[in-house]
Amino acid sequence: MAEKARTGRLVVAVDGPSGSGKSTVSRRLATALDASYLDTGAMYRAVTWAVLRCGIDPQDAGAVAKAAEEVELTIGVDPAAPHFAADDVPVDQEIRGPEVTAAVSAVSAVPEVRRLMVNRQREVIAAAERIVVEGRDIGAVVAPDADLKVYLTASAEARAQRRSAEYAADVVATAADLARRDRLDSTRTTSPLQQAPDAIVLDTTELGIDEVVHRLRELLDGPVAP
Ligand code: DC
Repeated sequence: MAEKARTGRLVVAVDGPSGSGKSTVSRRLATALDASYLDTGAMYRAVTWAVLRCGIDPQDAGAVAKAAEEVELTIGVDPAAPHFAADDVPVDQEIRGPEVTAAVSAVSAVPEVRRLMVNRQREVIAAAERIVVEGRDIGAVVAPDADLKVYLTASAEARAQRRSAEYAADVVATAADLARRDRLDSTRTTSPLQQAPDAIVLDTTELGIDEVVHRLRELLDGPVAP
């Protein structure tokens, strides 16, 4: 694995619930490995933005599937600036807003949406030489042959604290929203949030970002200077 971590083809799958530190860790790891970075949550968010822009009810699975098929996504994979656009409209800020966040679990539960996104994710992975991919079903469904599969967790309190700091939002409301999305994301029928059986589980409740990235690099590369 050590040689692979430095050169050649490399796929790292990072899964876990919201607020587990996935995004920050994945971007930092991708930069350290000189790899691309794919935020699959941003893909579901960009489709959700397109659904809402068209005035479609996120619960209307048929209309949602059609919108997902028609929207042209631009998917950035630069860990320093992973820009996203939908039908050539930049959506980096919009996809983090409350409207999209409230509707994304419903949109991402539609089987046809998942089929389209998983296909697209596999294309992006195949086109990249080295890539860190974050999401909910990467190790189990999208890239079961990944070189390293990590499942990040953290206590519900720590996750709510992180998300509320990130979005300058009320911590109690954030905790309620995370609990709602966790429930929806882990109970949907098509590829729910799941831990691949061969994933390495890392609880980040008490760990700083640097420490998590360091541990992942050690898993790939053997001991690494801090
Ligand atoms: O990681 P995030 O919060 O940006 O993800 C947004 C939503 O997308 C989340 O509620 C679950 C969904 N998602 C998914 O179903 N599968 C993925 N691989 C990534 C995200």
